[in-house]
Amino acid sequence: MPTDQQSFTLDNCKIPFSPGQTIMDAALAAKTYIPHLCHFPGISPQGNCKLCTVKIGTRQVAACTTLAEPDIVVESEIQELTDARRALTQMLFIEGNHICPSCEKTGNCSLQAMAYHLGMEDNHFPQFFPQREVDASHPQIWLDRDRCILCSLCVRASQEADGKHVFAIAGRGLDAQLIVNSSSGKLAESDLAPEDLAARICPVGAILIKEVGYQTPIGQRIFDQHKIDEIGLEQVILAHNTTATRDE
Ligand code: SF4
Ligand code: FES
Repeated sequence: MPTDQQSFTLDNCKIPFSPGQTIMDAALAAKTYIPHLCHFPGISPQGNCKLCTVKIGTRQVAACTTLAEPDIVVESEIQELTDARRALTQMLFIEGNHICPSCEKTGNCSLQAMAYHLGMEDNHFPQFFPQREVDASHPQIWLDRDRCILCSLCVRASQEADGKHVFAIAGRGLDAQLIVNSSSGKLAESDLAPEDLAARICPVGAILIKEVGYQTPIGQRIFDQHKIDEIGLEQVILAHNTTATRDE
């Protein structure tokens, strides 16, 4: 570490950072994992999932949206936060219809992998069984809102990487859902293309490329071969989704 480089402490490790860097970005650059579902390198953070919550003293903050500061002491891998992250993950599962055995994303899904990572053995809370609209109108892309965790990665990717503004999140609380910016509100009338980052970034089985399902044998799926706390795994996930797109 250069002598003028600033640093903070994360779970007893010194993490160097540059001014303007978030705790999450500095930690990832130092190859230290903080659980996250709505953060993606290069896409501006929004703090939706709260899986990345860490403690600075008695204060709880989202690591993905909080700037690193010199000499702060940050706790992440502590039982209290693991329990809270497991409860958040359980809430995500019961709020949607995450029936993994019948979902094409199983084995390649970050939500499922997070549940395994946190030792989640049941859903704990009563299941909501929502009935939200599936959009199958696009010839190549499928949108199942019952599996959407409202991470907004597709919204941000469409704006920042694709320059298209295809998605937005509308409504509040339990009524919040992903909407499509087209005259009919359907994907078919939108500009979304299978090559777009917005079509490939979904961490769960909400946005899928059609006609390429179940192509990876069990044992070779992303999370059969990788643990979610591997640094740089986002690029592996993207590469997998890109292959699915190319084969289409
Ligand atoms: S469709 Fe996928 S990427 Fe978009 S908000 Fe929902 S979970 Fe996130
Ligand atoms: S990764 Fe920070 S809130 Fe989701």
